[in-house]
Amino acid sequence: MTTADPSTVPAIPHGTVPDIRLCTGTSLPGADVLVIPVILGASGPELPVADRLGEETQISLWKTAVDAGVTGREGRTWLLPAQDGLPAPRILAVGLGPVDDLSPETVRRAAGNASRELALLGEALSALSLLGDLTGLREAAPSERAVISAAVEGHALGGYRYSGARSTPPSGVLSAVTVVAPERDETPEVFSRACAVAEAVVCARDLVNAPAGVLFPESYAAVISDLAVRSGVEVEVLTEEELAAQGFGGIMGVGRGSARPPRLVRLHYRPENGPTRHVALIGKGVTFDTGGLSLKRPDRMADMISDMGGSAAVVATVLAAAELDLPVEVTATLPLAENMPDGDAVRPGDLLRHYDGTTSEILNTDAEGRLILADAIARAVEDSPDLLIEASTLTGAQVRSLGDRITAVMGTPTLRDRIVRLAGSTGESAWPMPLPAEVADDIRSDVADLRNTGTVRWGGMAAAGHYLRHFVPDDLPWAHLDIAGPAYNTGTAHGYTPTRGTGAPVRTLIALLDDVAVHG
Ligand code: BES
Ligand code: MN
Ligand code: ZN
Repeated sequence: MTTADPSTVPAIPHGTVPDIRLCTGTSLPGADVLVIPVILGASGPELPVADRLGEETQISLWKTAVDAGVTGREGRTWLLPAQDGLPAPRILAVGLGPVDDLSPETVRRAAGNASRELALLGEALSALSLLGDLTGLREAAPSERAVISAAVEGHALGGYRYSGARSTPPSGVLSAVTVVAPERDETPEVFSRACAVAEAVVCARDLVNAPAGVLFPESYAAVISDLAVRSGVEVEVLTEEELAAQGFGGIMGVGRGSARPPRLVRLHYRPENGPTRHVALIGKGVTFDTGGLSLKRPDRMADMISDMGGSAAVVATVLAAAELDLPVEVTATLPLAENMPDGDAVRPGDLLRHYDGTTSEILNTDAEGRLILADAIARAVEDSPDLLIEASTLTGAQVRSLGDRITAVMGTPTLRDRIVRLAGSTGESAWPMPLPAEVADDIRSDVADLRNTGTVRWGGMAAAGHYLRHFVPDDLPWAHLDIAGPAYNTGTAHGYTPTRGTGAPVRTLIALLDDVAVHG
């Protein structure tokens, strides 16, 4: 075991995020821009901000909005001219859509749109946002807590800017957002929790965005160790010698084709007042996936820097659990390897022996994620956890079936459906996927226990799911989250989601730990 040596921790580029502040008082602080929510009403725009601005100012603001063609349509923003009586010289109106469709996610997206819009103005701006207080609505709105969290998360995450190694970073940044929220006893706590969640998402995004030349198994392990030590989370790193000696044949097999040897990182967060439930989290950490000898096509291969997205989300989640003092014990098992073609790389036809003794016949070296996850799952179950959740950018089939915003969830039906429901509550969409019995037969090998790909061309998500299931004891509730699409946005930014690393499924995993803390 090696412990963190801070001198070897590589500096990975970080994205910038606006400073998020809270205002619950009646007098509003000054800012460069005032962000106001606008509802798409049946007979024109509605401004649910009454008792914050005063009747008169609100009426004239409403007139300004109508004159400027503000409708309140969801997804839109309008920059309005200055007006007397307001704490900021500029106004950004953001559409929330019809009141009947209002949800926390609408608010989160609107806040994200506002932050992105303001960053694009090309100045270092400060904003004062009224999105955190919709108590001016006459109709039923989402709970106050949910609105505050959504506004904070949306503003923070939508304001994220990643410029990597650019010598001249883009000029537009949003330096600070003050979120106005109702003055309640629990508001500060709701606010700081939402800040911690946003911070975790940002942590995962930064890790995913780091290119593979910087983040390879050894350096990634050093970065994780450094983060863990700072958060008081126990960390253990197994080197290639230890992995080989202990029988981690899947991780060693995949890592063999790379000049940068693999690692297995284990994190352990133990809450102060035990005993509690024990959750095992596992995340795929392929720092770059060329496909190995079953080489990928060159177009879009660069996107494969995101093939460690599952591990990044798990790392960020464990740190958040510690930060939030969640009363759940969490053990994370993170297999890190680089999948490269080389004279010593694993070949199609080769056989590997996993940590639990299961053997795999390699038919396609590009189905590498399951090979390292097999070892990690086998190791994780040794701790006898109560639940096992694994997240990975595992199959192109996930992207083809559900697209790049919806996570596929497989596993024990109760836990699977619970995760789908919790994902929805955070604004990260997920959908349950089946594990048809005949697919289990299709990954049986004549010369090993399992084939790493099925013989049937279709339904690749289930072949991967069944393969992983082999390593989970029958009586252990488990779930597999295929985040191949959702972890990395190859399209354009939208709402609070930037291009490249998205931070999914951090919010779902935190929500799950939270839910386990309450309901077991
Ligand atoms: N890392 C990829 C899956 C992936 C695809 C992630 C697209 C993100 C976007 C994984 O290792 C892979 O290559 N899977 C293969 C498996 C196949 C060979 C059975 C795939 O899905 O094509
Ligand atoms: Mn692959
Ligand atoms: Zn992969």
